[in-house]
Amino acid sequence: MGYLVSVVGGGQLARMMAQPAAALHIGLRALVEADDGSAAQVLPDSPVGFPADLDAMRELTRGADVLTFEHEHIHAETLTALENEGVNIQPSAQALAAAQDKIHMRRVLSEAGVPCPRWAAASTAEEVREFGDEVGWPIIVKVPTGGYDGKGVVVLDREDGEGWHTVAQWLNSPRGEVLAEEKVNFVRELAALSARRPSGQFVAWPVVQTVQENGVCSEVISPAPLTDEAKTTALRIAHQVASTLGVTGVLAVELFEADTGALLVNELAMRPHNSGHVTIEASRTSQFEQHLRAVLDLPLGATEPTCDHAVMVNLLGSTLEEPRAAYPEVMRRYPEAKVHLYGKPVRPGRKLGHVTITGNDPERMLARARAAVALLRGDGGAATGEDDARQNARTGQKEIA
Ligand SMILES: Nc1ncnc2c1ncn2[C@@H]1O[C@H](COP(=O)(O)OP(=O)(O)O)[C@@H](O)[C@H]1O
Ligand SMILES: [Mg+2]
Repeated sequence: MGYLVSVVGGGQLARMMAQPAAALHIGLRALVEADDGSAAQVLPDSPVGFPADLDAMRELTRGADVLTFEHEHIHAETLTALENEGVNIQPSAQALAAAQDKIHMRRVLSEAGVPCPRWAAASTAEEVREFGDEVGWPIIVKVPTGGYDGKGVVVLDREDGEGWHTVAQWLNSPRGEVLAEEKVNFVRELAALSARRPSGQFVAWPVVQTVQENGVCSEVISPAPLTDEAKTTALRIAHQVASTLGVTGVLAVELFEADTGALLVNELAMRPHNSGHVTIEASRTSQFEQHLRAVLDLPLGATEPTCDHAVMVNLLGSTLEEPRAAYPEVMRRYPEAKVHLYGKPVRPGRKLGHVTITGNDPERMLARARAAVALLRGDGGAATGEDDARQNARTGQKEIA
């Protein structure tokens, strides 16, 4: 065992694997889109290329113990070819399929008896309409593959409109099929994060609450405010999904807590996930360390929390060309905040970084994490000096003006 992990994708998730890899002296190499991208900046040994290019994938996996992923946009044929060449792929192409294709996911989950929103695969507008008439409008329609951050999800009313135009485009694509779902009235969205080794060991982190804005995760609250019964149900679902699909590495199960109290699976990710960034500061073992351990089939780390509560707020876009310009102000006002920036050029709405705060007053932590993110976003007016004085009094810090 040479302890070399190859990962497809050069974004922030591969970048955040680099720290635990360095600590554990595990080699890490990513297939990056550009040699100055987010992961490439911290993983100098990374080949540039795209997952559809089999030669680039061969270069990525040469000499590596295992191939894993930070996103699921990889053709099945490429994975099958590599598997046939003897590459150890974790999670396996077969397991990963359920995270790549939302119709396939609904099929395998429904067959396994995992609770899901009511759904149908539709290949014509008429079938979409029939489904909506059956479950009630509006409905949710999704492109089966390639969507992320809400791209590929529409809320559809019965009346013709822009949504139907999008659905028609998806139906006219080579796949010619969409996933239609009932629109769940949810109290909150949750994520159950777990990890599983090829040899079967399974561990889970506390279930978190996630907040989505326009389909993009904006905030995470850990632990989620749930009854013990709901927590147990969520963890049972996570375990059932991981074991029946044979998932290895980190698995995120996105869930709806419906207004009926039912927990329904939204979708799956078989890799570290935005809902798990809090584990860097709030857990004995982070999701990034755990993913490396799990895909290498090493014993898994403890997942117990190291604090009462943790909150995470994403930085989505910025009016600052260089969000680091806010560091002096952010660090002075919010010394308890853990700031992560991913080294990406600023674009509107882009996930550029996140801020995590741990402690025992989640509402206050959330307000302060939001204010720290507002500064990084170039929205200086959002933070209040009064807050700083209170925090400094609490932490016993004296401000040196
Ligand atoms: N059936 C549904 N009912 C209600 N809201 C939904 C439903 N499906 C998706 N959503 C909303 O859209 C968001 C994005 O959908 P998701 O399938 O997770 O797509 P993505 O792959 O872009 O994350 C969800 O987090 C949720 O807020
Ligand atoms: Mg999602």
